[in-house]
Formats: sequence, structure tokens, C-alpha cells
Amino acid sequence: MSQKDEEEAVRRAPIFTAIDEVSAASLRASMTAIKVTKGQVIFKEGDAGDRLFVVISGKLKLGTYSNDGRENLLSILGPGDMFGELSLFDPGPRTATATAVVDSKLLALAHDQVIGLVKEHPQVALQLLRRLAQRLRKANEVLSDLVFADVPGRVAKAIIELSERFGTQKDDGLHVNHDLTQEELAQLVGASRETVNKALADFATRGWVKLEPRAVIVLDYERLSKRGR
Ligand code: CMP
Repeated sequence: MSQKDEEEAVRRAPIFTAIDEVSAASLRASMTAIKVTKGQVIFKEGDAGDRLFVVISGKLKLGTYSNDGRENLLSILGPGDMFGELSLFDPGPRTATATAVVDSKLLALAHDQVIGLVKEHPQVALQLLRRLAQRLRKANEVLSDLVFADVPGRVAKAIIELSERFGTQKDDGLHVNHDLTQEELAQLVGASRETVNKALADFATRGWVKLEPRAVIVLDYERLSKRGR
């Protein structure tokens, strides 16, 4: 990713979209840049939270753990995404563990700086509320899908959503470099690895996708998205 692409991604983050260039530049300068390597944990569920983060480049996963150590993935984040704000708006422990899926660059902003920003630019609050509302919509959808949709349907939907976030159209299809292991894909869908693999193999047999290590090439977007609806 070029530096220009990185800066454009940051500018799309909810705390930046509603402010003018000058304020954005000063906000950007007040944020701390952090580099994390693949597998590094940024914070753990239950930790005290005092900062929010914006992803500049790379990929992160947000997950929660059951008492017996199983992991559920809430979301995969990429450039321009923001996380770590819940413990600001509702002071309390972190609600999920954030881990780098690949080497990534982040920007961090202390929670009290966010409050200052919101006071100075009330329209930033609206952007943050919008993001929270979108997340609640999505969380409701995930819950409905867990109750009403079958595993292949949820796998198809997960690939389509990953393609919207990380897909690149090439001559031979839509390349979705999700960088997730099969185990992580299963944790994202909320099913066992075996069932998820079976669904993926079935999609491949039908010619809807081509499977690659940590990537999927979508060959028939139409059919796959229909299956995920
Ligand atoms: P916080 O609780 O501070 O730390 C974990 C972060 O994960 C949380 O803030 C949110 O930014 C993010 N998060 C929690 N739940 C979800 C979810 N369901 N979807 C997307 N992001 C989430």
C-alpha cells in the first residue's frame, strides 16, 4: 500500500470524515503511530481501555473467547476501520481481543482526546454514532443468521462480505485475500472447521469459487451471493 493510499484510508475513518483538512491534519499529527506484527495482540478482552485505534494498513481480527478457550470472531478489520471505542462510550473493560492477522500499522488516540475532539467538532459525534448504529445493525444480522441460516449460507455471506472489504477484481475472478486460516474462517462463521471446509469444497465443486491458501477467488459472484442471502 502506498503512503497516499494509507492516508486516504485514514481519512475515511469515522473520526476524520466530518472535519476539514486543517483539523484532520492536526488530529492526525496528535495520534500515535504503532506497528504490530502478525499474531501480535493489541489488547485483550477484559483489559482496561484508554485508547481507540484506526487501522492504517494491514488486517486485524476482533475476537471473544468462551470459558473453555474456544474463539469467536466478531469482525475482520482493514484500512480505515476504527476499533476500541466501546470502552470509551461505555467506560468498562475491553469487549473483545484485538490481534494482528498480518503485519499492520495503526494510529492510536487517547480516549480523553476523543472527548476533546467531539466537543470541538460535534459533527464527529454524529459520525461515531453512525458507526455504532451500523455495527448494531450488523450484530443483529449476525444473530439472525446464526438462528435462521445454515452453515453454507453463512460461509457464502462471509466470503461476499470479505470480498467487499478486501476483494480485487482480476481477469480470472474476484480475488479475496482474506489472510485467514480455515480455523479463523470457521470462527468468523460460528461453525466447526469441518463443516465450513465442506461448504467451501462444495462451492468449489460447483465452480463458484477457487480455493487458495488464505485466499478465495470468487468465480460466480451471482450464485454465491444468492446462497448467502
Ligand atoms: P472496546 O470494547 O474498547 O475493545 C474491543 C473493540 O472491539 C470494541 O471497543 C469495538 O471497537 C470492537 N467491537 C466490539 N464488538 C464488535 C462487533 N460486534 N463488531 C465489530 N466490532 C466490535
